[in-house]
Amino acid sequence: MRNVTTTSDQTTSTGVAAVIVLAAGGGTRMKSRRSKLLHEVAGRPMLSWAVNAARGLNPEHLVVVVGHLREQVEAQLAEDAPDVATAVQAEQKGTGHAVGCALEGLGELTGEVVVTYGDVPMLDTATLQDLVAAHRAAHTLATVLTAEVPDPTGYGRILRNGERVSGIVEHKDADDAQRRIREINSGIYVFDAVALRRGVAALSNDNAQGEYYLTDVVSMAAAGSIRGEGSERSGVAAYRTEDLWQTEGVNDRVQLSRVNVEMNRRILERWMRDGVTIADPSSTWIQPDVDLSQDVTVLPGSHLNGATSIGSGAVIGPDTTLTDCEVGEDAVVTRTDATLAVLGQGVRVGPYANLRPGTVLDQGTKIGAFVETKNAHLGAGTSIPRLVYAGDVVIGHEVTVGAGAVFANNDGQSTATSSIGDGAFVGSNVVVVAPVSVGAGAFLAAGSAITEDVPEGALAIARDRGHISSGWVARHRGQAAPSSDSDPRSDSRDHISTPEEHS
Ligand code: UD1
Ligand code: CA
Repeated sequence: MRNVTTTSDQTTSTGVAAVIVLAAGGGTRMKSRRSKLLHEVAGRPMLSWAVNAARGLNPEHLVVVVGHLREQVEAQLAEDAPDVATAVQAEQKGTGHAVGCALEGLGELTGEVVVTYGDVPMLDTATLQDLVAAHRAAHTLATVLTAEVPDPTGYGRILRNGERVSGIVEHKDADDAQRRIREINSGIYVFDAVALRRGVAALSNDNAQGEYYLTDVVSMAAAGSIRGEGSERSGVAAYRTEDLWQTEGVNDRVQLSRVNVEMNRRILERWMRDGVTIADPSSTWIQPDVDLSQDVTVLPGSHLNGATSIGSGAVIGPDTTLTDCEVGEDAVVTRTDATLAVLGQGVRVGPYANLRPGTVLDQGTKIGAFVETKNAHLGAGTSIPRLVYAGDVVIGHEVTVGAGAVFANNDGQSTATSSIGDGAFVGSNVVVVAPVSVGAGAFLAAGSAITEDVPEGALAIARDRGHISSGWVARHRGQAAPSSDSDPRSDSRDHISTPEEHS
């Protein structure tokens, strides 16, 4: 329950002037070569969550303040959100200074400026909209997102004068009485643009940390010293959220994991309420862009990533990881790893299959244990029950592939594609050396190495005929090694082509 009941849709129909996302700080407690902001929550960099939440407010300007490891952060933004502007804060002199760096690039600005952090991944657009709505309803110069927490240690504390906020005091600057206050500053605010610019210009760093505190702008707004001429706004309001996760910052990897667990818990809960069975939420991870239908069942140890979508009635898992896959209705996928694969209706895959990019399984196909596919299209009803590598191959429908078959697609330098016609039979341990075209209904005998095209309906055997020598074992047991001319094993020597032979 929120303490402001205004509905956001009505009151934030017009966007804010700017959102400034602070992301210049060090993140030393992550103990990482990577910028803290690139560490992922539910498969997305933390900063992407912050930028997406900000974007939802339809701001005229969206600025990320970068500093520490900024090349990494800028590269991420260029890829993920090229429309977002950055402002550089070369030296991290405090949150107030960081906002000043962003304002420099924004020129004259009126209206509302929202300030958020890049390391608060669970803050969402809905909460920001509610904050803006509260600000508009209160007619204040600033409105602060606050939360009442069990342990406020380290946070800035909200000083109140009844409904209104009279200031914010940092933990390090607070006295004992102030430290007992449990309502904390989330660091997320809406400011009147004119007051913000005046306040930032007036900041000093005369405090326990020698920093330019953005929180001091809040105190100035409360005191009325930075109000614009003729402004109808005055004072500072607080908008307190009951959802403490909305304000949870990530400073180390313990917090990172806590936030990941909570984000996942919320995603799973939403799917369960939408009709998906999740046998064990504690071992199931579903990323936010995944799409599930009613009556999907997800068994323990499964990870659904990227843009994966799953049709109704499908059973996924246990121990299955699907990344950017499309799975049809009633498919059963057990202990399988698949990436960029399309699994048709009613397919059965696994256990222990590895479906690599470009795999397309038409309706009712079956892939069994220790089968690896890559860029392979299997027609309806085709079955590969076990122990096969199928790379770069188009297999028709109702084809049976025996154990140990290999569709060899690479000669060490380049890859080529083979095709197998409808209803063909590929015996056990057959090697099909691409590029080869096998006609419909053809029969490839077990153990054959197929290096030429096989016509429709033909039998292809490409191996030596067996040789059986009666009584051979008894004759040779306990005796000296047989001379080579009587050794049936020497009948069919493999052929090795030497360079001299070719010259
Ligand atoms: C700040 C608030 C505090 C609040 C807390 C919530 C101030 C003075 N204090 O604390 O009241 O309870 O956030 O987490 O604002 N940043 C920059 N440049 C800087 C300094 C910080 O971009 O020079 C960024 C950081 O990357 C981070 C955010 O601002 O995303 C907050 O900085 P941090 O140092 O974590 O916050 P505190 O100052 O401890
Ligand atoms: Ca912090």
